[in-house]
Amino acid sequence: QRQWLNDFLAQKLADAQPAQGRKITILWGSQTGNSEVLAKKTGKALAKVGFTPNIVDMAEYDHAQLASEEHLLIITSTYGDGDPPDNAMDFHAWLLSDEAPKLENLKYSVLALGDTDYPDFCICGIEFDQRLAALGAEKIHDRIDCDVDYDDNFALWRSGILAALGTESVATESVEDEGPQGFGKKNPFPSEILKNYNLNGEGSSKQTQHIELSLDGSELQYEAGDALGVMPLNPPALVDEILAALPFNTKEEVPLPGGGEAPLRDALIAHYDIRKLTKAFLVAWQKRSGSPMLRAIIESDDKVAIDDFIWGRELVDLVLDHPADFEDGEDFVSVLKKLQPRLYSIASSPKAHPGEVHLTVAIVRYHSHYRDRGGVCSTFLSDRSEGLKPGVFVHTNKAFRLPENTDTDVIMVGPGTGIAPFRAFLEERQATEAKGRNWLFFGDQHVSCDFLYEEELKGMQENGTLTRLDTAFSRDQKEKIYVQNRMLENGAELWQWLENGASFYVCGDASRMAKDVDAALTKIAQDHGGMSELQAVDYIKDLRKEKRYCRDVY
Ligand code: 2AM
Repeated sequence: QRQWLNDFLAQKLADAQPAQGRKITILWGSQTGNSEVLAKKTGKALAKVGFTPNIVDMAEYDHAQLASEEHLLIITSTYGDGDPPDNAMDFHAWLLSDEAPKLENLKYSVLALGDTDYPDFCICGIEFDQRLAALGAEKIHDRIDCDVDYDDNFALWRSGILAALGTESVATESVEDEGPQGFGKKNPFPSEILKNYNLNGEGSSKQTQHIELSLDGSELQYEAGDALGVMPLNPPALVDEILAALPFNTKEEVPLPGGGEAPLRDALIAHYDIRKLTKAFLVAWQKRSGSPMLRAIIESDDKVAIDDFIWGRELVDLVLDHPADFEDGEDFVSVLKKLQPRLYSIASSPKAHPGEVHLTVAIVRYHSHYRDRGGVCSTFLSDRSEGLKPGVFVHTNKAFRLPENTDTDVIMVGPGTGIAPFRAFLEERQATEAKGRNWLFFGDQHVSCDFLYEEELKGMQENGTLTRLDTAFSRDQKEKIYVQNRMLENGAELWQWLENGASFYVCGDASRMAKDVDAALTKIAQDHGGMSELQAVDYIKDLRKEKRYCRDVY
């Protein structure tokens, strides 16, 4: 009888709080942490209205659980050439395979992050959305695709979700995030440049700047593995060239992307992107220009022809070669996109350099269509930042961290500027007197002029911090030698390190290097672990799941 009474009372309680405890699973797929942050913000909002959100890293999600979910939210970015983020790879492949179950009882929605400057915008989110629908799940809110500036679209999606779940009354006021506190992406810290010098020697075809910035007075904190956002400025001379060719009064104030107004010149220097052309931009420009050439390219809808035209051209080329009619400055900036901060992997440990942050920046320069041109932020930092205080903020990257256990060995593969976070890791391991062994693979073109941080690395070898250093200088001999060749040459030992629990890190070029390194790792598991190719792929999958295979690739 007592049991019955207990059950009865428990049921009463449950009935009285219907929203309380309603489960909702939020899966995030994230390479640099944005989706993770948004998943947590969404979870917070849902918790406030009585849900019990279960926020899960996709890599850690038990696939078998999907069939019994009632509510599912997916927040994912798209990476590289339209790839899922590393932590979403396995779930994505599984869901799109024949193994995925029917999901007729599932209600879901997808928030997709991406960058309209790349082809296959938000493709990973699109694929999740289409696949869930095909498996019979019911969409409770349309997918929203977000460009790099995702704040507004995210807020739209989140309030849409709350409304769809029947909680609109509290949707707007009570879930607002904490107000801006201190310095951050929306309020970058003006940082003094302490040092700025070229790491490459004479004879190099590259320029790689080592830049030290002060965080004094900012209260900004970071950890080895994080990135630094830097707000670039466009070259004033280039802006003046554009202004001189515009057919309206350029002294007027224009609206700024984030609100407020400024003279057109200032707006073009600090707030609008005047370098990168996109198809959408060309279409907008063509409408205002009588250029038959532009019309022909756009109307052909030939992707190759459009990309071909865009490559190596900037706003100034359109202003000069394909003049367009604009009513005024406001009309002109309406076709431009916001100037975005650039993220650089931090090259220092805060323990080794309190109050400072160091970067390793490849300076991008090229010549095209009769002009010398360059990367927006890299040339700003190298050529035009003296005496200025660039705006900076910390971008936390929890997916790229040293093992918590300082006894764990680490293997780091970082050719070129991919060395940056590993300089930070090594400094951190030295500062914390970590017992784990450290193995670095570094590569670049020539040993004589491209061995970045050579002295420091050799010093760390001598003092025992750097257990092993293997270098691959690709152009010092007839045939190319790359970091992955060095990995294969040392496959037996690398395998032993992995079997001993080592974590494996890769930083640098995503499109070729990281893929080749991944293939080398698989090969090593086959050759030295006695695995079949399938087993080796599974082994690598598990490494990823255990967060022992982490990548910071771009
Ligand atoms: P390369 O330019 O001589 O071909 C840093 O940029 C180093 O990475 C350079 O030595 C570069 O060699 C090398 N690199 C280029 N492609 C690579 C790849 N697919 N895998 C590994 N390293 C690569």
